[in-house]
Amino acid sequence: MRQIEIFDTTLRDGEQAPGAALTAAAKLEVARALAELGVDVIEAGFPAASDGEAAAVRKIAQDVTGVTMAALARANDADVDAAAKALAPAQRKRIHVFIGTSDIHLERKLRITPHECLLRVERAVRRAMEHADEIEFSAEDATRTDIHFLGTVYQVAAAAGARIMNVPDTVGYAQPDEFARTVLAIRGALTAYNGGIRVSVHCHNDLGLAVANTLAAIEVGASQAHVTMNGIGERGGNASLEETVMALRCRADWYGADTRVHTERIVPTSRLVSERTGIPVQPNKAVVGANAFAHASGIHQDGVIKDPRTYEIMTPQSVGWEARRIVVSKLSGRAGLAARLAELGVPLHGEELDNAYRLAMRRADEVHELDERDLITIAAEARRKAVLAPATLPAAS
Ligand code: KIV
Ligand code: ZN
Repeated sequence: MRQIEIFDTTLRDGEQAPGAALTAAAKLEVARALAELGVDVIEAGFPAASDGEAAAVRKIAQDVTGVTMAALARANDADVDAAAKALAPAQRKRIHVFIGTSDIHLERKLRITPHECLLRVERAVRRAMEHADEIEFSAEDATRTDIHFLGTVYQVAAAAGARIMNVPDTVGYAQPDEFARTVLAIRGALTAYNGGIRVSVHCHNDLGLAVANTLAAIEVGASQAHVTMNGIGERGGNASLEETVMALRCRADWYGADTRVHTERIVPTSRLVSERTGIPVQPNKAVVGANAFAHASGIHQDGVIKDPRTYEIMTPQSVGWEARRIVVSKLSGRAGLAARLAELGVPLHGEELDNAYRLAMRRADEVHELDERDLITIAAEARRKAVLAPATLPAAS
């Protein structure tokens, strides 16, 4: 089975989500949780951004062990030096150098020529090589860059010493097949390195395709995926860790690939990131949303009670939930209600259950979802009614 490296950028691109800024203590706490989760690389931050950010990255580099620690740097001396300094205490250090390469980035943002861009790539990667165990290079806005120029950019980065070539779909513009072709073209431009280069991808979610694009790239040989917990990140966010990892795990038959992530740590880590960033997880979010293992319709409830595999492709426990959730609402059937009551320690059968079902449906017309209090009250009432009017008694003549 192919191992895909998980490069977690929750603490860098994730933190670029509006409103997500973390304190240094929170960053450290999240970094520890990511290391426990089993990611391969943690991008701890962008040290050139501020002294506080540099100090936070340094603290993480010092305290969090067992993973490769990465820091982001633009392709200039000052950024590379800031990243090197912040990463200095890390067990294994990776400087992630990037520069915009599309016409729009070169002409409108950086105001440099393609040739100047290549010179900057070469200089920055060479400088970074002096300070880190490995260099990852990203051509920002790769998916809107002329494909021939893009190949040249990666060749220059490789000649200067970078061995991990990250392909960012910075603005979430690529379509899966198209992105796969871009990745193949870059691999093609680097064949001289005889497999000595690892290709990585970094996908944004502006069109909701970040995970699909990441998986499409993995299918054509990318061996590292940039992800964030809960998919947080700039604008529409990044490819989410939980979806990417679980797609590979659940469909190992398709991808023939897996990661080292301890998937049962996913939900606790998701909660921590949500709490510390203040960004809630939408209820219908795959894997980590509150509804990911909730069943509301009677038909589905009946199915999962008989065999969970009827409507679940992974177990809740495999990703860190305690249990699936049977939601009692107007859509529920008797089987769902019975299961929920049993869970609450008030199992009902026969007439008691019939009574409870009638009462529950009446209550369900008033509320969206019956809560524990509703259900326990209903169970008590259903039992009382059954005692007062036992169906087994012969009718009075
Ligand atoms: O989206 C992007 O291009 C980035 C790079 C810095 C990799 O975040
Ligand atoms: Zn990004």
